[in-house]
Amino acid sequence: MCGIVGYNGTKKAVDILLDGLSKLEYRGYDSAGIAIQDKEIEIFKAKGKLVNLKEKVENKNLLGTCGIGHTRWATHGEPNEINAHPHVSNDGNVTLVHNGIIENYQELTQKLERHNYKLYSETDTEVLTNIIDYYYKKYKLGPIDAINRTMVRVRGSYAIAVMFKEYPDEIWVARKDSPMIIGINEDGTYLASDVPAILKYTKNVYYIDNLEAACLKKDKVTFYDLNGDEIKKELKEIKWDIRAAEKEGYEHFMIKEINEQPDVVKKTINSLINENKIDLSKTGLTSEIINQFKEIYIVACGSAYHVGVCAKYVIEELARIPVVVDIASEFRYRKPILNKDGLVIIISQSGETADSLAALREAKEEGLKTLAIVNVVGSSIAREADYVLYTLAGPEIAVATTKAFSTQLVASYSIAIEFAKVKNTIDNETYVSLINELKVIPDKIDEILKNSTSNIQKIASKFSHIHDAFYIGRCLDYAISLEGSLKLKEISYIHSEAYAAGELKHGTISLIEDETLVIGIATQDDVFEKTISNLVEVKSRGAYVIAITPSDKDVSKVANDIITIPTTNKYFYPSLTVIPLQLISYYITIAKGLDVDKPRNLAKSVTVE
Ligand code: F6R
Repeated sequence: MCGIVGYNGTKKAVDILLDGLSKLEYRGYDSAGIAIQDKEIEIFKAKGKLVNLKEKVENKNLLGTCGIGHTRWATHGEPNEINAHPHVSNDGNVTLVHNGIIENYQELTQKLERHNYKLYSETDTEVLTNIIDYYYKKYKLGPIDAINRTMVRVRGSYAIAVMFKEYPDEIWVARKDSPMIIGINEDGTYLASDVPAILKYTKNVYYIDNLEAACLKKDKVTFYDLNGDEIKKELKEIKWDIRAAEKEGYEHFMIKEINEQPDVVKKTINSLINENKIDLSKTGLTSEIINQFKEIYIVACGSAYHVGVCAKYVIEELARIPVVVDIASEFRYRKPILNKDGLVIIISQSGETADSLAALREAKEEGLKTLAIVNVVGSSIAREADYVLYTLAGPEIAVATTKAFSTQLVASYSIAIEFAKVKNTIDNETYVSLINELKVIPDKIDEILKNSTSNIQKIASKFSHIHDAFYIGRCLDYAISLEGSLKLKEISYIHSEAYAAGELKHGTISLIEDETLVIGIATQDDVFEKTISNLVEVKSRGAYVIAITPSDKDVSKVANDIITIPTTNKYFYPSLTVIPLQLISYYITIAKGLDVDKPRNLAKSVTVE
């Protein structure tokens, strides 16, 4: 989705803005632009990649030390230079960049037309820019009044950075349901829609809340509420390491992040274990609170939803609590029947996914307690949930999630184990052995990366030409198949489907023909033989079978290729099987010559519905 960056200080703004925007490229965009305040505000925009914008500003000798920048992911109007941000009000009074969507922009357009405003673009952002200008001129009470009146008038989601011609040393920001942070250091003030854009310059940030505004001067930031009254904010330190947002010699962020998994999974597990016991105290959950929950609803989108599907198997079996897993965009509209003694768990890497955030609010509205499993500190979901469990994946740059997914998995195992202990559904011996095994998962992931990567690359390189793939497994192997299949289709553009192996016969097996790729996952002892039988069925219809399994017993007879993984406790296999699944998708995509970090049409953080 779109990205925003801004700077007001003593250094040349153009360099900081272009550098910041380059750090936001991973979010997906199709045009970019900057506005630099020097003697007057100068605007540069370009369609396509950031390099086109860089070419435009090269040799322009832009000395201004205050400016805003934007990468746009087209929603209203095609991706072209006219629709690119920044947008400017009719008489050049207001310059603005915007993330999000203004839902009542048509009604506001009519209002502007009644007041003789002319619009040059197809964007809701230009409407917003002129609405601010309208209130600014009508009431003549300055920027904060114009912004606050606009916030009351518009519907939708937005993070905006605004420059007023008559206030040349200031950048104004405001937000509702779209992320924005403000940073500060000795040389100036910064703003960004996402941490990596300014991480190189400062780790000291303020989080601005919904319907709040701020004014950034060169040496200070002032915050305001919707009444225009000044409010105080606490400066927070971002713990992320700047190196985590750099490629550091890897060819792509995705492979770097795949290789970071032993480390970030270990960090996440360690943060949840204290003296060999699961310790959820940092989340705010106590045994008394856990004991009250009679049902769990896990709500998320995409890969985070797949973590939920895995978690359902583990929590239900270990803690014997019924778990319903829902896709957030369905949950928020399908009027679910919710047990008031239930806990709603929202899983989200970014903490900003619009549907997941709406689901969280829906759950709270219904009076249920909410736990967020989130990677980004200070994100909207983290701030609004009753309890928060932070995964420690660090910044994830590749659009397709890998390391955040793996940290979410171990977080959900920890919840399952702790709930089981509190509910008394496992004995102490089981508890201890689960924790001991949990602690060695990072080593086992490392072992797969070290021992199997080149074999997986060799296997994957045979499949760059295919059009379809099927992932099959039973129980937890089915749950992780969903993730394997999504990983492949989203980055390689190869159609793929995940099926519960036992379900194939009910229709889908008719699609299997000579050389159809079927990836079979067989880790679960109690259904192992049944999965093997299903693999035999597809093999006998011509499928090319890749098996991922800890044991090659029986598998070598049916699989064309076998990827062997270490053994672990049955509940934890998804953490191991997902590694070859990620690597298969990565290497097939590389063999196809595609942009693996930034797949077409996708955005890292989906902040609109
Ligand atoms: C797929 C992927 C997405 C996200 C989904 C939810 O690789 O990354 O499916 O998992 O968009 O995003 P978050 O976790 O930020 O809520």
